[in-house]
Amino acid sequence: MSDILLVDDEKSVRLTISLFLKKKGYSVEEAANGDEALEKLKTRSFDLVITDLKMKPINGMEVLQQTKKLNPMMEVLVMTAFGTVESGVEAMRLGAYDYIQKPFEKDEFLMIVDKALERKKLLTEVAQLHDDLQDKYRFENIIGKSNEMLDVFAMVSKVATTSSTVLISGESGTGKELIARAIHVNSRRKNRSFITINCGALPENLQESELFGHVRGAFTGAIKDKRGLFQEANGGTLFLDEVGETSLPTQVKLLRFLQDGEIRRVGDNEPIFTDVRLLAATNQDLTRLIKESRFREDLYYRLNVIPIHIPPLRQRRDDIPLLADHFLQKFTERTKKKINSISPDAIKILTGYDWPGNVRELENVVERAIILTNKTVITPEDLPETIRHCEIPYIDETCEADFGDRTLERLEEQHILSTLERYSWNQKKASEILGISTTTLWRKLKTYGIEAKRKEE
Ligand SMILES: Nc1ncnc2c1ncn2[C@@H]1O[C@H](COP(=O)(O)OP(=O)(O)OP(=O)(O)O)[C@@H](O)[C@H]1O
Ligand SMILES: [Mg+2]
Repeated sequence: MSDILLVDDEKSVRLTISLFLKKKGYSVEEAANGDEALEKLKTRSFDLVITDLKMKPINGMEVLQQTKKLNPMMEVLVMTAFGTVESGVEAMRLGAYDYIQKPFEKDEFLMIVDKALERKKLLTEVAQLHDDLQDKYRFENIIGKSNEMLDVFAMVSKVATTSSTVLISGESGTGKELIARAIHVNSRRKNRSFITINCGALPENLQESELFGHVRGAFTGAIKDKRGLFQEANGGTLFLDEVGETSLPTQVKLLRFLQDGEIRRVGDNEPIFTDVRLLAATNQDLTRLIKESRFREDLYYRLNVIPIHIPPLRQRRDDIPLLADHFLQKFTERTKKKINSISPDAIKILTGYDWPGNVRELENVVERAIILTNKTVITPEDLPETIRHCEIPYIDETCEADFGDRTLERLEEQHILSTLERYSWNQKKASEILGISTTTLWRKLKTYGIEAKRKEE
């Protein structure tokens, strides 16, 4: 049975909601104010905390933040007063699952509560599945054994069966589309269409009509009615690639769809209901676009219900040999060449390289090597000059002169890595050399995702 903590300083509200939830089979504990809530949260955990926002002296935002601090897996639903959408969005920014405006319909409330609990269950199972996946190096045709990819796989297999919207983020070539397809193929919608639209490739003025369709005469050139991709994808999945490139009017329409499942064709006020699962991907930092007023914050939270981040290849170097071998198999089969393996020193070079183009770049390099070689083993000579040039960039001092087009952050990351390598991962020694405290070093390792690597070595 799901455990809910209900926080509201109005007794009548508390009683009504808790009675209702108990009738629906939930176990509900009540707190009459923020203090009482925090006391209870310290002694035990709940699946869901439902809190009013306006309370004294500790308000709902504080309850939300403390809950997330104590246990990020606990979901929080905030209740806002009528007409205060901003505080609801702010709460989502701080990690709330969702917000609901008072007064609300019981059915709507129950639906949100159920969804929040479903997500809590899902995240708990994902953590479990991660462990189960440990000795399996592939998921569908997606290769990876790094902790980061195991997390991704666990998430994919869990979210696939739900109807949640998923936002997949990651640099170019990390496999976002592959992951989106895997979600579709593992879902109940697998026999229905999977439609992809690259929002970045469409001029802004065509986005709306492409996605939502239009009626005849809606604009110059609209000579007949046109169905949009939402209608084409009905019953299936719609994958919005480069969602950060959508125009603001398109974003408004997407938001409306996510809120009430309805779309409107351009030039038509009649709502159309479509049953579409939305998956979105971005290689941009959407929070930055929000700051620049190029992306709606409310849409971001609706899309980001389940975030899946695919880390760049250089942050999961363990996957490189595995991927290289996978592509070797793939292309030797295709070209019918007899190439058995990649030599250890070639693997070493591949593992040390930074892969700005991520998996796609690695795939191309392996393909090129197979085409060019006339040996049965791929050796360093078969690799492009640029990659061979810098064997293991972070320990090869001779490479220091070539900083190329790297950001300061990348240089810092590499310098930290090379120092750690030089001193056999002795963090105390390395921090002395770098002139920073061990805490600062530790923090930087976390930021750059170097921590995981250290543990494995
Ligand atoms: N983990 C993986 N295992 C096997 N192949 C992979 C993996 N990740 C990516 N690929 C391959 O790398 C190529 C790029 O993947 P994909 O197109 O999904 O990347 P993307 O993140 O959508 O890139 P972009 O942002 O440029 O659109 C594809 O050929 C894909 O099959
Ligand atoms: Mg893509």
